[in-house]
Amino acid sequence: FESQKNPFFAGKKFLITAGPTHEAIDPVRFIGNHSSGKTGFALADEIANRGGEVMLITGPTNQKVQFDSVRCLNVVSAEEMFNAVKEHWQKTDVGIFTAAVADYRPVNPANQKIKKSQENLSVELMRNPDILAWCGANRSDHQRIVGFALETENLKENGAKKLEKKKANMIVLNTTADQGAAFGHDTNKISILDDHNNFKTFELKSKKEVASDILDYLKTYES
Ligand code: C5P
Repeated sequence: FESQKNPFFAGKKFLITAGPTHEAIDPVRFIGNHSSGKTGFALADEIANRGGEVMLITGPTNQKVQFDSVRCLNVVSAEEMFNAVKEHWQKTDVGIFTAAVADYRPVNPANQKIKKSQENLSVELMRNPDILAWCGANRSDHQRIVGFALETENLKENGAKKLEKKKANMIVLNTTADQGAAFGHDTNKISILDDHNNFKTFELKSKKEVASDILDYLKTYES
């Protein structure tokens, strides 16, 4: 890290969600996804590097933060992540929602390991709370919200809908259609759409560089 303490970031309180969530089916099984947490952790480190305060609320990942000043809260399920975010939202200046939150969870997770018996097995699922949308609905004027969207088509159009629905200031769009981009990879290719209708597309870069681009954009957005 090239130290770049910056008056925009100094003393600002950032809340970041990162990683996947795991939704229990029984005590040993879960529904999850391939999110690595790399983008959220890269953002946390870069914000700390620039002098910001970070509360990182993360699902299960192998990532480690490099800056001791980053406060880390480990959660497992979407509900746990939601509770942690709600607890910290009021004192947040900027929320960055990189987590790949599971959209559904099993209605009745079993207390004991499910035995195999019948040929087919159904697990009933119910919707999880939308954490970002809750923050958007419970925001005060000074708070800034950055959402992420993984879209496979009509990037800008779908991004604009998401921006409005979730009351976010910026949506970072990435697409699995780009080679070497998004889930699990070390690189990503993003576009950013903001609520002033500015749209900017970036080159394929390392997730560290992507984090810097997002933070530079945020700084410009505010000025
Ligand atoms: O609606 P969609 O899942 O595409 O929105 C993605 C954005 O919303 C991401 O920023 C993600 O972290 C956030 N999100 C959330 N809680 C959910 C679902 C998505 O915070 N339950």
